[in-house]
Amino acid sequence: MMGRLCKGGCMIGPSILNSDLSRLAEECQRMLDAGADYLHLDVMDGHFVPNLTFGAPVVASLRDKFPGVLFEVHMMVSNPEQWIDDMSKAGADIYTFHLESSENPHQTIQKIRSKGMHAGCGIKPKTPVEPLSELAPLLDVLLVMTVEPGFGGQSFMTDMMPKVKYLRERHPDANIEVDGGLSPKTIEIAAEAGANLIVSGSAVVKSSDPKGVMTQLRDVVNRYRDSEKAEA
Ligand code: DX5
Ligand code: ZN
Repeated sequence: MMGRLCKGGCMIGPSILNSDLSRLAEECQRMLDAGADYLHLDVMDGHFVPNLTFGAPVVASLRDKFPGVLFEVHMMVSNPEQWIDDMSKAGADIYTFHLESSENPHQTIQKIRSKGMHAGCGIKPKTPVEPLSELAPLLDVLLVMTVEPGFGGQSFMTDMMPKVKYLRERHPDANIEVDGGLSPKTIEIAAEAGANLIVSGSAVVKSSDPKGVMTQLRDVVNRYRDSEKAEA
């Protein structure tokens, strides 16, 4: 159901980073009409990653237009605690920070929760998975980046899949999210590894049939999730 993060089930969250940003609301609406389960909003500060996007005012404007929609803010920023308050006021539902940029992840998670948001934590490709796995019981979303964060449209890194498998083996009901280069071509391998939250930017927004693409992504993930449940 729109607006809810349900544990372990497949959800498709388009990233609007590579859409026509001059028409942001229309692009979000187009994604929602095509069956998006949530919107993945990429926040970049030009410091943690070599690119700039937008902050809380843009999230607040989108919240006004889309009251019941689940928003994840993917915080690719150097000081993630700085924006927790603003993002919660702006109406973000899931606040996903990067493990690399938090001095005290326990405290960051606690602050996110104290503002009534779900807490997500992500790791860049060169970051080992073990510390994220240790935090898993405290988190609502475990994000494994499948590209170097900063830009849409990059190639999916298959060699990140052992991290996803590692997390799925240890946390069977967790929300494991993959972000970067997800498309009908790469979904099979991500789903097989155990991902259930799928962020997809260019493959969805640049498609003439975003609904078809999202349906395909969802079907593949559900197939693997169902077979895993049957085995358990
Ligand atoms: C990359 C962003 C991603 C990106 C995904 O830094 O975090 O969310 O926009 O876009 P694609 O699917 O095009 O790789
Ligand atoms: Zn992202």
